[in-house]
Amino acid sequence: MKRLRLSITGFGTVGQGLAELLSTKHALLQQEYNLDIILVSVANARSGFIYRENGLDIPAILELAAARRSLTAHPGVTHWENPLEGLRTTGGDILVEATPTNLHDAEPGISHIRIAISKGMHVVTANKGPGALAADELFALARQHGVQLRMESTVMAGTPVISTIREGMAGASVHALRGILNGTTNYILTAMAAGQSYGEALADAQARGYAETDPTADVEGFDAVAKTLILAALIFGRSLKPGDVIRQGVTTITREQVQQAIEQDNRIKLVASLRLLAGDARQEAALEARVAPVALPLSDPLARVDGVMNALTVSADTLSEVTIIGPGAGRAATGQGLLADIIACARGQV
Ligand SMILES: NC(=O)c1ccc[n+]([C@@H]2O[C@H](COP(=O)([O-])OP(=O)(O)OC[C@H]3O[C@@H](n4cnc5c(N)ncnc54)[C@H](OP(=O)(O)O)[C@@H]3O)[C@@H](O)[C@H]2O)c1
Repeated sequence: MKRLRLSITGFGTVGQGLAELLSTKHALLQQEYNLDIILVSVANARSGFIYRENGLDIPAILELAAARRSLTAHPGVTHWENPLEGLRTTGGDILVEATPTNLHDAEPGISHIRIAISKGMHVVTANKGPGALAADELFALARQHGVQLRMESTVMAGTPVISTIREGMAGASVHALRGILNGTTNYILTAMAAGQSYGEALADAQARGYAETDPTADVEGFDAVAKTLILAALIFGRSLKPGDVIRQGVTTITREQVQQAIEQDNRIKLVASLRLLAGDARQEAALEARVAPVALPLSDPLARVDGVMNALTVSADTLSEVTIIGPGAGRAATGQGLLADIIACARGQV
């Protein structure tokens, strides 16, 4: 049995969702994967970093988090106010990074990731900031230390897009990706197709917990830009900056535009796309990156992806078009993406 010592930084929806899976799937992980995963440390903003050498009691730590009590109430833990110091002192086999996405400087996640890699830990992240802003630096650091950095759940949560393309489609030459990568805006556009105004649809999305009180990151397209940058780095090996992505959100789309599109058998969707432009023999083809509302014909599989669902169409030489549809957010769905990455680290896949 292979023993894995896991650390989770960020213990909100995603961190707790993974902890739940580690607990409910403990026997399956042992039987099917020969893995004994123990959670040795957890950090959040309120409590700092807690560590227990022989493993934390997951149901107990979930109860503390649910009650919004300090995680330091867990028996027998060592505590650091500063998660960076805790991580530097204790280490482990794998860091799961699930602190909030920050598209300005990727902190605090990027510092957690740098420390973990330099201590020889594999890193699995749901946090989009580090992959969107610093993929080159972090993958180089991971190579230097001989560890893996995986980020399946940053794009479409647990729906396997990155691993499907990199592992399942290995050897194919991908020349374009087009996707619905933000569930909030897809929910809003779907509600507008059913007759709501933009304001009504946004309020509805907020009431259901799909949109934040400040919805800017979703409705202005920044979240989709972050995912586009991650796909550019992981699938095309190109390091783009946020400003390289042509961006338009959904805030100026009117109910009339949406209804007019329907009359013409089209659906307006916020489409994130990456496309290799035809280059010449002397030059590498340029990669066009865009996030914008597009009227798609109903013959396009993306046109029929409604509500909070996400989808990605991959265009490749050997497979024509492959479309992957699935959940793009949620506690268990994102935990699943992290779990798959953890298992891949344990198997030694890169
Ligand atoms: N939710 C999803 O469905 C989903 C899907 C894919 C990717 N993601 C990404 O996954 C990450 C986590 O999302 P979430 O929904 O779980 O967010 P969340 O519920 O807001 O949880 C964030 C957690 O990070 C902690 N935190 C904040 N600053 C910290 C710091 N400096 N050091 C240590 N911990 C810190 C918070 O502490 P407190 O609990 O004390 O506030 C909280 O526990 C984000 O980057 C998000 O973009 C989320």
